[in-house]
Amino acid sequence: MDDYIDLADDPSALAHLLRRLRLADAAAAATATLTPLTGGVSSNIFRLEIGDKTYCLKQALPKLKVAKDWIVPVERVYAEIGWLQTAGRIVPGHVPEVLGVDRVTKSFVMAFLPPAFANWKRVLMDGRVDPAIAAQLGDIMGRIHAATAGNADIAARFANDDTFHAIRLEPYLEEAARQHPQVAAALRSLTERTASTREALVHGDVSPKNILLGPAGPVMLDAECAWYGDPAFDVAFCLNHFLLKAARSPDALPALMLSFAKLVEGYVPHIAWTRHDVLLQRVASLLAALLLARVDGKSPVEYLDEDRRARVRAAAIELIERPESTLSDITTFWQREFSE
Ligand SMILES: Nc1ncnc2c1ncn2[C@@H]1O[C@H](COP(=O)(O)OP(=O)(O)O)[C@@H](O)[C@H]1O
Ligand SMILES: [Mg+2]
Repeated sequence: MDDYIDLADDPSALAHLLRRLRLADAAAAATATLTPLTGGVSSNIFRLEIGDKTYCLKQALPKLKVAKDWIVPVERVYAEIGWLQTAGRIVPGHVPEVLGVDRVTKSFVMAFLPPAFANWKRVLMDGRVDPAIAAQLGDIMGRIHAATAGNADIAARFANDDTFHAIRLEPYLEEAARQHPQVAAALRSLTERTASTREALVHGDVSPKNILLGPAGPVMLDAECAWYGDPAFDVAFCLNHFLLKAARSPDALPALMLSFAKLVEGYVPHIAWTRHDVLLQRVASLLAALLLARVDGKSPVEYLDEDRRARVRAAAIELIERPESTLSDITTFWQREFSE
């Protein structure tokens, strides 16, 4: 990309950025340092140190670092910034504060969460599963959805339908449909239903890897997929991780299934913009599709072996073929399939 200024490779670009954002004077800007943070797939993300102050700097990359080709506009960084600012007002403390936005380098600076904040994915993978975290996350997501539901200004600001299609619906659901002609019609109709449902501000990537756990509970990061659309997507996307991790580790399965139930329990009281049963049915059908998408889509889960992937695939297809399954049908089925 011709006009892309890579902050990782250009110290003078960094110094200019810090001065534009008034985070440092010329002398301090010249000594600022960037240290890459690990775990990201779609951006350059750094710990930024200026004197004794520490920040986090994030710049969208033109191409994601995942297996199959997946190119999306760097402008998605503005969706992320907008989501962080909007959600930060609704659930302060559960989103890092945005401290500066730079249009020249398509980057932003936010508060740095110190290493004491644990990455939730790492915690879950270590088998430390606390259902109270899931309950709190359900409550946080519910508050964000409820506060933005039916808001025409927010809907207009986050009308990111094309990007959401490019980075969520296409690589997950449409790719799974291409791989599985048997359920392709069902997956395509889910894609269409999701794309045409515009009810609330969706984060779009509520995955444990994008959540840090601090003293006040979960902090949500990485909102590049932010879109005014179907809130069922966020709920299903997150629940999917509990099922996938349960498929990996039968020992953790009971606590993960309890986390699943607790997330739903924390979320449901906030559903005031539509009928509970209608929304939860959308969650259930999306969940079945997302399970298949995380095995055979463009961003396959890395922690399941071939045998477990095959079992998840078969289970997901069975669920997609039974679209009337409720969330509790899905958990009962999952427990039967994956308790060893
Ligand atoms: N504000 C922050 N403070 C501290 N660490 C952060 C912050 N934001 C992100 N990180 C770390 O960087 C990782 C990648 O950030 P993320 O926003 O998810 O980037 P990507 O879009 O590339 O996935 C996170 O998993 C987290 O460990
Ligand atoms: Mg991330």
